[in-house]
This record gives sequence, C-alpha cells and structure tokens, in this order.
Amino acid sequence: MKILFATPECAPYVKTGGLGDVSAALPAMLAKLGHDVHLLMPAYRGMKVSGEIGDGVDLPAYSHWPAAQLVPVKTENGVTLLLLACPALYQRPGGPYVDANGRDYLDNAMRFGLLSRVAAQLGTVHSPLRGWTADVVHANDWPCGLAPLYLAQSRMIAPHERTAASILTIHNLAFQGVFPMGDADALGIPHHWRGMEGVEFWNDLSMLKAGIQFADAITTVSPTYAREIQTEAFGVGFDGILRARASRLRGILNGIDRQLWDPAQDALLPQRFSRDAMKGKAQCKSVLQQRVGLATDKTAPLFAVVSRLTAQKGIDLVLATLPGLVQAGGQLVVLGQGAPELQAALSEAARRHPKQVSVTLGFDEGLAHLIEAGADAFLMPSRFEPCGLNQMYSQAYGTPPIVAPVGGLLDSVTDATADPEHGTGFVMRSCDAAGLEDALVRSLAAWKQGRQWHRIQANGMAREFGWEDSALQYLEVYQAASVLANGGTA
Ligand code: ADP
Ligand code: GLC
Repeated sequence: MKILFATPECAPYVKTGGLGDVSAALPAMLAKLGHDVHLLMPAYRGMKVSGEIGDGVDLPAYSHWPAAQLVPVKTENGVTLLLLACPALYQRPGGPYVDANGRDYLDNAMRFGLLSRVAAQLGTVHSPLRGWTADVVHANDWPCGLAPLYLAQSRMIAPHERTAASILTIHNLAFQGVFPMGDADALGIPHHWRGMEGVEFWNDLSMLKAGIQFADAITTVSPTYAREIQTEAFGVGFDGILRARASRLRGILNGIDRQLWDPAQDALLPQRFSRDAMKGKAQCKSVLQQRVGLATDKTAPLFAVVSRLTAQKGIDLVLATLPGLVQAGGQLVVLGQGAPELQAALSEAARRHPKQVSVTLGFDEGLAHLIEAGADAFLMPSRFEPCGLNQMYSQAYGTPPIVAPVGGLLDSVTDATADPEHGTGFVMRSCDAAGLEDALVRSLAAWKQGRQWHRIQANGMAREFGWEDSALQYLEVYQAASVLANGGTA
C-alpha cells in the first residue's frame, strides 16, 4: 500500500511532544511491514536530516501560497521523507507552531493550510511526484486537518479520477486549529462547506473540524480516549460531531520505540540495566540526584515529572501534594516547560526545598532518559490524556507510573492495589489532589516493602508496548477507509 503520512513534527528532526515520537515510529513500522511510506512535513529552520537527498520538485502555484518545493530524502528506516520547502513560511527562529516568544505565528492558517494542500494533492492523479500517488493520506492533528477536505473537494470536482482515502488521527482534541472565517478564501475552502456541516465552529473555522467532518476514517490514540471524546466532559465542543461519526472512529493505542527506549541498550544512560539485572538503575538514580542537585540518598523515594507544563498535565495537583511528599522524605525531579505560572510555582518549590525538589525548565532529551531510568516512580496526574507515552517509557524503565484514571493512561497501566499480581503502577481513584495524595500514599507503602515494589517494576518491564500490533490496526483502518472512499459500504 502507498501511504502518505502527513505531520507537523517528527523526531528526531523536530519534536514538541508525543506526536513527534509517533511520527518517527509508526511510519517506520509500516515500512518494515512492507508498505511504501512517504512522510510529509515542513522543512523548518535548522533541521538536520540524514539520508540520500533527491532532486527537489517544484510545486504548482497554489492560489495564495508562496512558491514551494518538495525535497525527497530516502532515510535508513525505509521511509521516504518529503520535506515541504517553503522558506517564506517555515524558515524561522522559534518552534513549529510558535515564535521565539511562544506566540502562535500569525500566518499558521496558511503555513498548515499548505501542508494539508500538498498532502491531499499527493493522493490524487495530479500528484507532484510523478509516478507516485498515495492510496491513503494519513493526516495528523489540526495542522493536517484540511487534507481530508481538500481530498473530498478533488473527489467532487473529478469523481472519475482516483483519489486516496483520508484518515485523520486526533492526538489531542484540545488543539483545534481555529482561525477567522475570513481565511477561508485564501485557503480555498468552498462556500458550501463553510457552514455548520463543514468547517464552521462558533463563527470561526476549525481545521480539526474539517478533518473530523471529511475524513473517511478517524482514529485517536487510545480506545478509552475514543470513548471519552464522544462525551460532553471530554469533547471540547466536538462530542456531537464525533458521536455523529462514531462508526468511523476507532481508538488505537500508541506503542513505544524500543530502539530508543530500552534501558538495556540506551546510550543516553550512564549505566544500562534490565529486568534481570537491575543494579544499573540504582547507579542511574545517584547520577540523576547529583546532576539535578538533589541529596544523593538512595533511601529517599524519588518521584519524577517530564512533561509539557500545561493545565492538561495536572501539574497543579503535583504542586498541591508536594508538601506531603516532602514531609514523607520524598524527592521530586521535574523537567518541563510551558505555562509561566506553573514554571514559577515549581521553581519556587525548588527554591524552598533545594535538596528535595529540583526543577529543570527546558527541553532535554538526554535528561528525560536519565530521569526515566533514575527515578523510583513517575507522576502523570493528567486531567485528560489521549494516550501518553511517558507512562509506557516509565514501565519499560522499572519506574512505576502514578496516573490519573483517564484516556490512554487507563489503557496502559494496571493498578497494583486492585491487582497486586499483575499491577504495573498506581491509578488515581479521582482526578484531584485527594486522588493523587491517596495514590502517592499507596505507592510509598509498596516502595517501602521492597519485594512488592520489585514485582510491580518487573511486571511493567515485561510489558511489550511494541508498535507492530498498533501498525496492523492502522492497516485495517486504511483498508476499510479505502473501501469507503471508493463508494463501498463499511
Ligand atoms: P504530550 O504529547 O501530550 O506532550 P506524551 O506523553 O505523549 O505527551 O509525549 C511527550 C513526549 O515529549 C515524551 O517523549 C516526553 O519524554 C517528551 N517530553 C516532554 N517534555 C519534555 C522535556 N521538557 N524535555 C524532554 N522531553 C520532553
Ligand atoms: C498528544 C497527547 C498525548 C499523546 C500524543 C501522541 O500530544 O497529548 O497523550 O500520547 O499526542 O499521540
């Protein structure tokens, strides 16, 4: 099958969160399974890619967009990277979505409109890559949300021409790609699709809504989140349209990339370890304590957070339970960046308890690995969590996660109180400070009884979390969507 995977970010080139990890791992697994996978992403400033770089292909002039090129790069893992080179839109200081001051780029509608436009065109007979037309276009999150709409438009204009099936994966429903309806002209959104049945969302236009309305199939990154987003509590205003399209919606749990996240082979660790040889983990703990300035004390239970610092991640709950944790002799290490008020509150806590609380603001892949390896337990009290990757990394690294009872966290962590034999972590009984406090108390009690803790660690480390099973589920979705796109019934 010819698969076009369109994404705004992909590790190791550009990553702001889990989508970067998924974009690296899932296409590579699909290629390993024998499929012809092309990955389309913008060529951002300073991106270092390795592989065989082909000749750039000029893209046809699209109405309001500046000139652009596609540059193919054959990578080692069998995926062809298609870099969308449009210097006027993508060669800037700052991140993929925000400028160096953390503000959204004012022309994000055009920046990601172009990404979607090119993704869609690669799925038509007018593909700019001569001889290569995708069978399926897999669009990820709001930045690619218009791709299914553009494909539907091509199908309408030329019903007898072959057009790829479109799949939208929602990694986070909270990011909806909302822009003024005034942008619809420049984006080429037809008038008849500007209403409620199309892209309209509270008088603006939403790129994510476009994807939800027009995709042949919709997936999200865990079965529980797929159910949750159809309810008012988690639907962020889209629960109605998701319920209406429920027969096209499926949850597929993300995997983890074992090449990158395996404590037995991880080159970023000072000492490696495995389920049967855990000594290296204790050494990682003391290296971590030294590196982040905590007391080097193996008897202090060390809790960790590696996260975007946003309301989603329940960082306020960590702050609320911190006095109890410190009182109990625990330590907390935090690595993250995000909301200024959370950064300030965490930094203040570290200032007050310098030997027990350490906060590193910024993005640091190497430190993230050391924390996963060196901490005793990992905190993820998220308010919602589509999938979450860190709770899976934590289990693989013998660092039982303490998680909120939501989304992918529920689908990937077994509570050790409810199921002592198979438990891999602790699931909060409620999504609030009392819920976290209670889970912390339960985890501390287990930690003190070494044997029980080792069992939880061993159970987690034995979990597979591989990508193969998820990739096979995506292939099923691609196939079903292709049938639907060609006028069949599901
Ligand atoms: P989300 O995508 O919502 O941020 P996930 O758990 O799916 O959450 O993925 C987050 C990814 O980003 C993980 O690979 C995590 O290790 C990484 N990450 C988050 N913040 C940082 C940071 N400050 N430094 C390094 N890695 C980080
Ligand atoms: C989003 C979600 C996270 C998920 C990731 C990758 O950023 O917040 O839960 O793991 O996407 O799918």
